[in-house]
Amino acid sequence: MAALSNGGHVVLALIAQSGCGKIAGAVVFSRVQIERDTGTAGPIRATALAPVAIRPDRQGRGIGSSLIEAGIARLQAADEALCVVLGEPAYYRRFGFDARLAAGLTCAYSGPYLMARWLAAPVTAMPAGRLVYPEPFESLA
Ligand SMILES: CC(C)(COP(=O)(O)OP(=O)(O)OC[C@H]1O[C@@H](n2cnc3c(N)ncnc32)[C@H](O)[C@@H]1OP(=O)(O)O)[C@@H](O)C(=O)NCCC(=O)NCCS
Repeated sequence: MAALSNGGHVVLALIAQSGCGKIAGAVVFSRVQIERDTGTAGPIRATALAPVAIRPDRQGRGIGSSLIEAGIARLQAADEALCVVLGEPAYYRRFGFDARLAAGLTCAYSGPYLMARWLAAPVTAMPAGRLVYPEPFESLA
């Protein structure tokens, strides 16, 4: 998290606190780029919902869902266009993420667990290209 923050890769971070002030969970939306396969236009700016972590003793209480929904609303208000996530489709589908939308994106995590969603009404077809995560993620692959 420090590497993401220090590198200026964090678009939005939301933290949930329990009653006693302890951190119950956090979601971060990080900056990613899509380097298009074709055309001369530059890379497309997008966000990745990552990392996401709810404390084990606080899971299953709606905290993750509330933080993710609040984060998506904030990104929409900030005119962000596109968000990707890598995770369990059974969980992330409920927030509008769809692996079919991410099928044209290539990265170390390509496959059924890589999903995308538009944050606004789409003005183009989903771009195809290389999805580039910031360095702190790339070094995990
Ligand atoms: C996955 C995680 C973010 C969900 O947050 P949460 O606050 O526990 O979840 P919520 O209370 O908002 O939602 C609960 C629902 O999600 C479902 N769910 C939780 N984890 C799931 C998973 N890994 N796969 C599928 N569904 C899952 C629950 O079954 C429940 O479903 P229901 O609403 O139909 O009953 C959280 O459990 C977590 O931090 N897990 C460990 C780390 C992790 O997996 N991070 C994601 C990858 S970066």
